Amino acid sequence: MLQQRGFVEQLDTPAVVVDLDLLDANLRRTADLARKSGIKLRPHIKTHKSIWIAKKQLEYGSVGVTTAKLGEAEVMAAAGIDDILIAYPIVGKKKLERLGNLMKSAKVTVSTDNYEVAKGLSDLGLSLSQRVALYIDINTGLNRMGKEPGEESADLIEQIVALPGIEVTGIMTHSGHVYGKSGHDECRAVAQHEAESLVRTQQLLRERGIEIREVSVGSTPTAKFLGEFPGVTEARPGAYVYGDVSQIVTGTMTREQCALRIYATVVGKPRANTVVIDAGSKTLTTDVNPASPGYGILVDYPGVILERLSEEHGNLRVPDGVELEIGQVVEIIPNHCCTVVNLHDQLTAVSQGTIADPIRVDARGKIT
Ligand SMILES: Cc1ncc(COP(=O)(O)O)c(C=O)c1O
Repeated sequence: MLQQRGFVEQLDTPAVVVDLDLLDANLRRTADLARKSGIKLRPHIKTHKSIWIAKKQLEYGSVGVTTAKLGEAEVMAAAGIDDILIAYPIVGKKKLERLGNLMKSAKVTVSTDNYEVAKGLSDLGLSLSQRVALYIDINTGLNRMGKEPGEESADLIEQIVALPGIEVTGIMTHSGHVYGKSGHDECRAVAQHEAESLVRTQQLLRERGIEIREVSVGSTPTAKFLGEFPGVTEARPGAYVYGDVSQIVTGTMTREQCALRIYATVVGKPRANTVVIDAGSKTLTTDVNPASPGYGILVDYPGVILERLSEEHGNLRVPDGVELEIGQVVEIIPNHCCTVVNLHDQLTAVSQGTIADPIRVDARGKIT
């Protein structure tokens, strides 16, 4: 359980609860590390989707925010946040129009790994008489977006910088494959590889007469190593604000540092060794983690597995000798905080064991 639990009896479950003191410590820890390392922090707000938290991140020294989607960026810009990286390719007339509008109220950078996408952005830039700032996305092992580091990306960037409506201001990578790793050394190796891959590409471009300003890396597990590998200028961690099972199994955060928990009530005991709670996939999502069984960690019951979810029911497999009573409230650390948050309009906030103003998930569901 969170240290002070006086609030639990006031909850209507299932409840997603954020401990504001843990949240604050998480925000400060990463902000301090970035500051000490001389690296700009541009947190990914896909995790919290909250204007209030984004503003706290800026207050603690972030230079701006990262979003995945235009819709998230629109919400942030409408709240006055004026330096936004949309780390996503913007494709199609409708989206280009929206980007053009957004560029009137905020300094916006977008990303791509593709010449055709860059051409569309360049045409937008020409039509606005304003060059579109662009990061080129490079693959460092996730195998999602991105050409390979080195010659392959350098060749692409050389083509893209020739487009008249574009300014290539950075190169970026997301080392999401770190979530298959565990422990300090494995995660550090991923951090080293992402940094060195980008710096090598930047150097190659320099030799070709092309200066790239920003070298942007991003994931919560690799953000722990900020400052260890020279050349990185910017980091974009997201999940560090809340933490989840993914952070625990990679050794990035402890259970005690996880600021977001689900509270659920025992509502059934239909069979031996089976207990039902009132949190299902609409609360927890169906995200799994290969290194941890079930749909989340039962904080006080290490032997109990949350083994099955339907929409509103969660089935716990309970070993012999462990008693859970009808009406009892259990605490769960979810597998993936970002997707959980996106299911909820607002989160219950607690501080020092007392319920505080809720956290609104302002950009909830902004997937376009
Ligand atoms: C492009 C990009 N940057 C940064 C992040 C943040 O990574 P994490 O969730 O590990 O904090 C993500 C997460 O998916 C991402 O896709």
